[in-house]
Amino acid sequence: MSDSQIYVGLDIGTTSVKVLVCEDVKGRLKVIGVGEQPSGGLNRGVIVDIDKTAHSISKAVAQATAKSGTSIRKVIVGLPANYLQMNQVHGMITVADQGQPREIVNQDVIDVAHSTLSQSLPAEREVIDLVPRDFAVDQFRGIKDPRGMSGVRLELWATVYSGPKTIVHNAKKAVEQANLQLEDLVVGPIATGFNILSDGEQDFGTVIMDLGAGQTTTSIIHDRQLKFAYVDPEGGNFITKDISTVLNTSLKNAEKLKLDHGYADSPQADENVQLAVDVVGKTQPVNYTEQYLAEVIEARVRQIMRRAKDKLDSINTPHLPGGVVLYGGVAGLPGIKQIAADYFDGNVRVFIPDQMGIRRPSFANVLSLCMYESSLSDVDQLLKETVHDGDVIMSRHEEQENTVHTAPAPRKSRFFNHKPESAEPAQPTPAAEPARNHEESSDDDHKQSSKGRIKSFFSNFFD
Ligand SMILES: Nc1ncnc2c1ncn2[C@@H]1O[C@H](COP(=O)(O)OP(=O)(O)OP(=O)(O)O)[C@@H](O)[C@H]1O
Ligand SMILES: [Mg+2]
Repeated sequence: MSDSQIYVGLDIGTTSVKVLVCEDVKGRLKVIGVGEQPSGGLNRGVIVDIDKTAHSISKAVAQATAKSGTSIRKVIVGLPANYLQMNQVHGMITVADQGQPREIVNQDVIDVAHSTLSQSLPAEREVIDLVPRDFAVDQFRGIKDPRGMSGVRLELWATVYSGPKTIVHNAKKAVEQANLQLEDLVVGPIATGFNILSDGEQDFGTVIMDLGAGQTTTSIIHDRQLKFAYVDPEGGNFITKDISTVLNTSLKNAEKLKLDHGYADSPQADENVQLAVDVVGKTQPVNYTEQYLAEVIEARVRQIMRRAKDKLDSINTPHLPGGVVLYGGVAGLPGIKQIAADYFDGNVRVFIPDQMGIRRPSFANVLSLCMYESSLSDVDQLLKETVHDGDVIMSRHEEQENTVHTAPAPRKSRFFNHKPESAEPAQPTPAAEPARNHEESSDDDHKQSSKGRIKSFFSNFFD
């Protein structure tokens, strides 16, 4: 496998740990192994018992190892967005050598990234990711990769994502205890937004909703960045509990009824289909219609959707052209799209991976971790190295310490598409995508003003 690279995603969820082994052959990712095992030690998306979680991780990794025939050492770990904070930062360093411009190298990128992180965080928080927006070399903005350019001053505009130390520490510790190394730590919706949305949806603004077992995360992706995340501590487990309570049956029966006969949209269920349910305290099963089961499910799904909508309304979210994309296990409920459409404007769709063996919305996160990691540019990797200071292995970058940049193959970039602010055009860079400025490309006045509203909404959005 000399010209291939292996990426292993690890999604530590409330009900299951998912491991996905992907092989990147010449830029195309192929799924070569999957592992999924019930989770231990999690409560509503957060690790609360490291030993139990490490045990579940080991089991899922062993399964994926057997399926893929690959030995797994390094994993890309998804972190939940609970208590996530985002801040826009700016850093600047002088690169001049005795007053003369000189070529910018990897170390300069690391140094300017460090300068953006100089702002101190509260003791209980930790930086998880530093996502670049653009660089400036001297007065030229809009640069995605400054290496190899010549200048006296290097600036970086970026977004810092930070989370509670406990969440980050527990994830790292559980991975370490499972005898694995961290290839990267990624905030779930950052990776998923990147993977499940088209370029236009990422640029113009889209809501993505991860309907998990322990929690539901509603996020906004705009200008190719995660701009907002709301974690609601209700998910599929609540639906199961409701069924168990209303039908007076065990949680195990309730889960099976939900998976085998559940509908989110009760009119879609059949009122003539009778389900024989084992009920506590009765010797004979009791019959309930499929539609009655669906009514129980629909009530909870509506509550989850309403709470997400209320949250988006409370921050005055404008209409986002990309609409809403649903994923996570609960998005597998038939009729969920119709219910979501009652609460959200625009198009609603469900994301289901189309790779064999993972065609379920609950695999969206783990697949996205592999896709996202494989798309990171050298500059993204350098910035991550700055953040994690040795905790994370930057395998593809290790051999290139402090060398002048040679042009990598163009990738789908996670960079913010920034309009150069200088009157002069930005210096060309081989890694840069063509500058796209959707503000200029539309001739529709109505769309222009709606874009303007979205842009101004987000311009004041960060802390
Ligand atoms: N086809 C389906 N219909 C209804 N519910 C489903 C279906 N498939 C999975 N689920 C539910 O989705 C949940 C599991 O989803 P997922 O794997 O995304 O959650 P998780 O990652 O373990 O949890 P979390 O993200 O909250 O930490 C469970 O509640 C499960 O019952
Ligand atoms: Mg999940």
